Parts: sequence; structure tokens; C-alpha cells
Amino acid sequence: MKFEKALVTGGAGFIGSHLVEELVKNNVKVLVVDNLLTGKKSNIDKLENVEVIYDDLGSDESLKIIETFNPDICFHLAAQSSVVISVEDPLLDFEHNLLQPIKLLQKLMITDCKKFVFSSSGGTIFGEPNVIPTSEKDYAGEPASPYGVAKKKLNEFIMLMLDNQKMSYSILNLANVYGPRQDPHGEAGVMSIFTGKMLNNEIPIVYGDGKQTRDYIFVTDVVSALIKSSEIDENLFLNIGTSKETTVNELVSLIGSITSWEGQPDYKPQREGELLRSVLNNEKAKKSLDWEPEYNLNRGIEELVNWFKSE
Ligand SMILES: NC(=O)c1ccc[n+]([C@@H]2O[C@H](COP(=O)([O-])OP(=O)(O)OC[C@H]3O[C@@H](n4cnc5c(N)ncnc54)[C@H](O)[C@@H]3O)[C@@H](O)[C@H]2O)c1
Repeated sequence: MKFEKALVTGGAGFIGSHLVEELVKNNVKVLVVDNLLTGKKSNIDKLENVEVIYDDLGSDESLKIIETFNPDICFHLAAQSSVVISVEDPLLDFEHNLLQPIKLLQKLMITDCKKFVFSSSGGTIFGEPNVIPTSEKDYAGEPASPYGVAKKKLNEFIMLMLDNQKMSYSILNLANVYGPRQDPHGEAGVMSIFTGKMLNNEIPIVYGDGKQTRDYIFVTDVVSALIKSSEIDENLFLNIGTSKETTVNELVSLIGSITSWEGQPDYKPQREGELLRSVLNNEKAKKSLDWEPEYNLNRGIEELVNWFKSE
């Protein structure tokens, strides 16, 4: 890897802990800052060569330690990561998803940090898409949740604040990420929720008619995109998804067949503000990063099911 010292915010969370694991494997010295809002100590406490601050990334104490650590690169994954909670408590969302990250950016700009890699959200920063799969230039309409607003605004702050600075940025608009260690209450928790329920022989709930679509990408593929994007000096704004659309009903039957679950889901009324279709065109990322997703849904779900069984 091109860098020696990495700051990972949200490193005790689902995606963050997979990234930290990969960095450590490559002998990178890592500083994690995580306030355990949704993260878990057990996700990273067995890893060596990792310094951890369990605190808000925007606290005076954390910012002081970050300045002293003087990272070569920052992977910013910390977030209040639930769309539903952002609707219930917009102030909490604003605090963690916009205010504290801006404090972090200001601090990093006075260190030697050369790259800021942000995990933004491809499924929430715009409205119902007109073009499927949706490319970076097809984004249309406004976000339907405080979570989406904060992610979109942070994208804009990063572009403004880092324009022509010595620290460049990679903004990665992630699709619905899934894999081991995902908290079932998170943004794409449906995969974990369904798998957990089916393995326990319980009935999963589907909101709406199950025909709504999403773009599900396995966490290992996201980690490789994060790392590849960190090694490119230019500013990047990329979709990280699979370009493949999957309905919730298809997901139920796929997970059902892999877990040998037989039955029908419990259909409940559709939730307000949910997009009907969401799938990201990944052509630009493929070219810019020389990257492509290696996991199809079958392989990813099999790994997820094996992880559930081993837990
Ligand atoms: N999982 C997905 O499908 C998905 C999709 C698009 C974008 N993202 C984004 O990717 C990032 C990682 O998501 P995840 O699924 O791993 O979620 P996660 O909830 O598992 O991880 C977020 C981590 O940030 C920590 N955190 C929250 N606020 C903090 C703060 N102020 N200071 C320090 N730590 C803080 C939490 O404790 C948690 O460990 C998030 O920014 C999320 O919005 C995720």
C-alpha cells in the first residue's frame, strides 16, 4: 500500500472493521476512532497494531490525538448509519453525519494527510431515479431523509473544502453493503435480518409488495474499492455497486434456498420515503479504479450464512 499510517473513523463498525482488518494485514499502522454508537469493541479488539479511541471523532480529545498521529490517509466511515433513526432524530444525525465530520476535515487540513476517503451513500442522496442503473451524472431529485441530506451535504462540503488542496478526496457512493458482522438495524440490514430469521426458522417481514429493488454489494468488494481509491491522487466521485438490480422477493427466495427455509414472508404496508428502485451504474468506478465486484449474490449470501452459523 502507498501509505503507512491510516486513520479509520467508524473502524469498530461493520464495514470499518473489515477495512481495518485488511489494512493491518498489509502492515499499515491504524488509528481507529469510534464512539460505539453502533460499533462493537469485539469487531476489532483482537487485531494487533491498532490504536483505538472510543469517543466521538469530533471531540477535542479525539482531534488532538488525530493531529499527533498525523495520518497519511483518512478513511471516514463513522456515521449514524440508520435512515430510520435519522427521521426520528434529525439532530443526532446532523451531529454525527455532518457537524463532527466537518470538524475532522478542518483538523486534517492542518496535518500531512494526503487523502480523505468518504463512504457516502448511493441509495439515499437523490430521489427516485429516472435512469436505471443510475450513474453519477444521472442523480436527480432530493434525498428523502435527514440521513440522505447529511450525506449529500457532506459530499458538497468535502468538494468545496478540499478543492485545490494538498489533501485530495475519494467520495464513494456505496450501494447496499452486506456481509458478516452487519448490524441488522443498519441501512442494508435486510440481508442480515432475513438470514437470521430464516436460520431460526422464523418468518421475515417484507414492507410493500417485495418488488422494490436494491443493489447489494458484498463487504469485501467495498473494502477493495476503498483501498484502491485511496491510492489514486486525483479527486474521485464514484458509485460503488454491482449494476445489478435485485427485488426483495428475489432476495427472500435466494436466502431461503441457501438456508433451506420454506415459507412465505409476512407482507406489511410499504414504508414512507422508500425508493421503489435503486441500482448504481459502476462503469466509472471500474475504469477509474481498475476494480470490479468479485462476489455474486450466491457467493456473498453463502459466506454470510456460514458466518451466522459459526457465531
Ligand atoms: N452498510 C451500507 O449498506 C452502507 C451503504 C451506504 C453507505 N454506508 C456508509 O458507510 C459507513 C459505514 O457503514 P456501516 O454499515 O459499517 O455502519 P456501522 O453503523 O456499522 O458503522 C458506523 C460506525 O461509526 C461509529 N460512529 C458513529 N458516529 C460516530 C462519531 N461521531 N464518532 C466516532 N464514531 C462514530 C459507530 O459506532 C459505528 O461503529 C457509514 O458512513 C454509512 O453511512 C453504508
